[in-house]
Amino acid sequence: MQRIAVITSGGDAPGMNAAIRAAVRTGLSRGWQVFGVKNGYAGLIAGAISPLGAREVGGIIQRGGTMLGSSRCREFETGEGQEKALAQLEQRGIYGLVVIGGNGSQTGADALSRRGFPVVGVASTIDNDLSGTDVTIGVTTAIDIALEAIDRLKVTGASHQRAFLVEVMGRKCGYLALMAGLAGGADAIVIPEQEADPESVAANLRAAYANGKAHAIVVVAEGAQNNAEGMAHYFQQHHERLGFDLRVTKLGHVQRGGAPGSYDRLLGTLLGAAATEQLADGVDGVLVGMVKGEVAATPFAEVVGRKKQLDLRLLDLAHVLAK
Ligand code: F6P
Repeated sequence: MQRIAVITSGGDAPGMNAAIRAAVRTGLSRGWQVFGVKNGYAGLIAGAISPLGAREVGGIIQRGGTMLGSSRCREFETGEGQEKALAQLEQRGIYGLVVIGGNGSQTGADALSRRGFPVVGVASTIDNDLSGTDVTIGVTTAIDIALEAIDRLKVTGASHQRAFLVEVMGRKCGYLALMAGLAGGADAIVIPEQEADPESVAANLRAAYANGKAHAIVVVAEGAQNNAEGMAHYFQQHHERLGFDLRVTKLGHVQRGGAPGSYDRLLGTLLGAAATEQLADGVDGVLVGMVKGEVAATPFAEVVGRKKQLDLRLLDLAHVLAK
C-alpha cells in the first residue's frame, strides 16, 4: 500500500480544509494510507504525523482555517531542518507529500523535492502572489471579507463626510488591494507594483469631495511603500486641503478568518484532488493551480522565486470609474 502525507503551511487561507479533504479522500479511494502533518513544517520536523481516515476530514469543507494547523518555521529553511523532516517521513514509509500553502511553503516544498522526495504543491494563500496559477485558494473569500468591510465603512463614512484609508493584506503583492478596490468602488488604490505618492491620492480625495461625494475610500496594500500609516501621516499634515475628515482601518488577519465561499471550496476541492492524482501519476516537483480556467501543474522551477505580474490596466480602470 502506498503512503502519502498532507501538510498545510504558512498563513492559513479559507478553502485549505476543502483541499485537505480532497487530497486525503482521493488517496484513500486508491487504497492508499494517508497521513496528516500537524502544524506545518514545524510539526513535520517534530514528527507530528498521524493517519487520517475519511471521517477525520468530514465536516470541514465549509470551515475556514486549517484543521491540520500551520506554522511559519525558520528551522525548515535550513538544510538540517529539511533532513530532519525527510527522516520523519521515511521512518513512516511515506513516499509522497502534498504541500498546501503559499510562496514560502512552496519554496520549502521545492527544497524537499530537490532532495529527492516526491512533493506536489497546492496553491493556497490569500495574497495570490504565486506564479504558476491565476488564482490561489483563499483570495476570493479574502476579497469578499474586505468588500464587506468597505461597504460598511461607506455607510458610516457617508454619515460623517469621511474618507477611509482601508489597509488590506497581501505582503508585497497588490492583487488583493486591487481587486477589493475595483469591486468596492474605491476612489484610489495604492499597491506596491505602482507606487502612488500621497499628494496624488490627496488630489483624488479632493476631487471626490468637490464632486459632492459623501464619503471616499482609499484601499491601500500593506506592502506599498506608502502604506496606510504613511498615507495617514501625510494627510494629517494636509488635513485642511482634503475636504473629508479621515480615518484609518487596518483589516489585518480578519481577512484570513472567514469561512470559504463557493469558489474557494471548489478550488480547494479541485486542486487538492489533482495534487494526489499527480503523485499517483509519478509526477514530482510541481505546483497545482488554475491556469486559464483549467487545473494545471507547473514545475517549481517556474514558480519559486518568480514575481507574479498584475494587470495594471485594472488600476487605470478603477481610476476612470472613480468619478
Ligand atoms: O501570506 C498571508 C499573510 O496573511 C500576508 O498577507 C500577511 O502579510 C502575512 O500573512 C501575515 O503573517 P502572520 O500571520 O504570520 O502575521
